[in-house]
Amino acid sequence: MSLPYRHILVTGGAGFIGSQLVRMLLALPVARVTNVDKLTYAGNPANLADIADDPRYHFAHLDIADPRLRALLRDNRPDAIINVAAETHVDRAIADPLVFARTDVLGTHNLLECAREIGVRRFVQVSTDEVYGSIAAGAATEDSPLRPGNPYSASKAGGDLLCLSYAHTYGLPVSICRGANTYGPRQYPEKFIPLAITNLLTGQPVPLYGDGRQRRDWLYVTDHCTGILTVLEKGAAGDVYNIAAGQERENRDVLGRLLALLEAPEDAVRRVTDRPGHDRRYAMDASKLRALGWSPAMGIEAGLAETVAWYRRHPAWWHSIRRGDAFTAYYAHQYPMLPPLR
Ligand SMILES: NC(=O)c1ccc[n+]([C@@H]2O[C@H](COP(=O)([O-])OP(=O)(O)OC[C@H]3O[C@@H](n4cnc5c(N)ncnc54)[C@H](O)[C@@H]3O)[C@@H](O)[C@H]2O)c1
Repeated sequence: MSLPYRHILVTGGAGFIGSQLVRMLLALPVARVTNVDKLTYAGNPANLADIADDPRYHFAHLDIADPRLRALLRDNRPDAIINVAAETHVDRAIADPLVFARTDVLGTHNLLECAREIGVRRFVQVSTDEVYGSIAAGAATEDSPLRPGNPYSASKAGGDLLCLSYAHTYGLPVSICRGANTYGPRQYPEKFIPLAITNLLTGQPVPLYGDGRQRRDWLYVTDHCTGILTVLEKGAAGDVYNIAAGQERENRDVLGRLLALLEAPEDAVRRVTDRPGHDRRYAMDASKLRALGWSPAMGIEAGLAETVAWYRRHPAWWHSIRRGDAFTAYYAHQYPMLPPLR
């Protein structure tokens, strides 16, 4: 892939998907990649340790909702922006929705304004399948209605609508990609798959919400990033692209696979009260992106095995998160029915 951009600004590049995206961008012949990240609890400089010394990489410690973003963009003048930064965890959104509106709506708005002022050649908004809400049957296309079911997905939908309005009203060349549930190395261990893996690796029970029959279409992190890069390279202004691999599984089946990979007993699973408003099923049709030449490279079986292997090989990475105050406080609040973390 050869991108027609010299300097690409990525927001949220210290997180799970953003760090993989920065790594993949630097593997391409780009002149400069700037990462703007607030370093929330989910932002981790260790995610970028392997590329931090690349002379083409620049880090700016800043909130995308901060007015100082304007000066940063004026001074640096990227020709493309990929907005990955967001508050991302549904359970945290239910407990404390305001910060989601602040980052995912107002932060996106601030970034759009700055992009408009400097006149970028492409703005890619990284969004989610959750904006379509629960899909009882079939699969959402890019024209399906937005029916977000929780404060996270509602905030992401708000960001998407602002993006589309900037394309329509100001002609800003914005494309939106809506990725499916993503998993893989470096995912913060509050999320379903890395929480299960790290609890099992430390001999602790794994929570499963409700009946565990919620269905998600799992997407490996590198496939999500090739989808974003395809939209950056070939996406049309004002258009939306779903990124999904067509690998739908019930949560209880994903957990069953993890138990098998880690040789853990079935009674390691603890059924806990379902998340309020929990969407039952997400499903997207990704044929529009596939028509641009994208296809996923990782199957779910191999992807789960790779993910387990990565967490096995990197205990220091997740132990340092799990032993920190931010994680232990969150865990105690979210799972009072489980034994405290060890
Ligand atoms: N993980 C998934 O399953 C998934 C699926 C579809 C879409 N997405 C979208 O992909 C993007 C990345 O998700 P992720 O799972 O990598 O998230 P993450 O929580 O691992 O990382 C988010 C990153 O954004 C940064 N950030 C948060 N608020 C910020 C702010 N105000 N200013 C600057 N930086 C800020 C954090 O410090 C962190 O580095 C999000 O936009 C999310 O909505 C995620």
